[in-house]
Amino acid sequence: MKNELEQLKEEFLKGLEDVSDSLGLEDLRVQYLGRKGRVPLLMKRLPTLAEDVRKEMGQLGNEVKRTLELAFTETSERMQARERQQNEQAQWIDVTQPGVRPELGHLHLTTQAIDEISTLFARLGFVRVRHPEVEWDHYAFETLNMPKSHPARDEWETFFIGDGGRVEEGEKGKIVLTPHTSNGQVREMEKGQLPIRMININKTYRRQSDASHVPMFHQFEGLMIDKGVTITHLKGVFDFFVKEFFGQNREVRLRPFHFRFTEPSMELDITCGVCLGSGVNEGVKCKICKEGWVELGGAGMVHPNVLKAGGLDPEVYSGFAFGWGVERTMAMKSNLNIDDIRVLYRNDLRFLEQF
Ligand code: DAH
Repeated sequence: MKNELEQLKEEFLKGLEDVSDSLGLEDLRVQYLGRKGRVPLLMKRLPTLAEDVRKEMGQLGNEVKRTLELAFTETSERMQARERQQNEQAQWIDVTQPGVRPELGHLHLTTQAIDEISTLFARLGFVRVRHPEVEWDHYAFETLNMPKSHPARDEWETFFIGDGGRVEEGEKGKIVLTPHTSNGQVREMEKGQLPIRMININKTYRRQSDASHVPMFHQFEGLMIDKGVTITHLKGVFDFFVKEFFGQNREVRLRPFHFRFTEPSMELDITCGVCLGSGVNEGVKCKICKEGWVELGGAGMVHPNVLKAGGLDPEVYSGFAFGWGVERTMAMKSNLNIDDIRVLYRNDLRFLEQF
């Protein structure tokens, strides 16, 4: 038994030398010192020994066991320290190194303009609303005083929604991609909450695509309706907007025009940002405007028929409306000299990143 104990000890110590990681080490411990390990098994034979050697073998056995346990602990600690060090080396990072900056995007320049426009009108109490882009003929034309087959409709080259050549029709006529934000006028009146001060900013669609037109563009539509609203209010709102948006040195002019849904109707011009209204720049005729003014968009006093279509009594209520292109308005502000407006929606970062 003495020899066996010595042999166990030597084998174990040899095993410790060969073991390469903590898993292997644990295996070795279980194999020798575990409950059913070789050392306890050997010790179990003690009672079968003759009485005179039993005690000696018992002591020897305990000694061997302690030696093995001690050797195991030492190896285990050494190994843990080594593994910790390896981990530290593998996972070490230099916290003083500059980080990798995530790429930062920004809002599209049209979105920036929409934010700016809605913020300005909010200061006058105009609430931003959205009305459908996919719309009934009823709201896009009919209720705006443009009955079916009225020639005024020709102004809007409309996309009709259809299936295999068959245009969809619903309870309120054909279904169209709204060609202007004026569809929001009667829809807003139908909410029945007066007075109305809305600014409807949305995508609009027309069958057009060339250097100065895109099939999808944006408009913002203002509508103010209350008792006693007059053209003076309209002029006041425009003055505020134009001076805040384009600069305090810009002037507004109302030029008579014709729209079916307003009476009287007008186009709004502002003094040119380059020649500031003189029509002359550096001694020659201004190349941008030729006569001192540039056109911003349409406006007018809401037509009585439109008020009636929205369920309002034109004898009691009056209002003004205007509808302008967002892209056009923002291009005029920054004197953006874009040869081809379609670049706005081509998603070319070389262009978009400049704004
Ligand atoms: N809806 C018109 C267009 O797209 C613009 C317009 C003109 C809107 C006069 C109005 C308005 O509200 O009063 O050309």
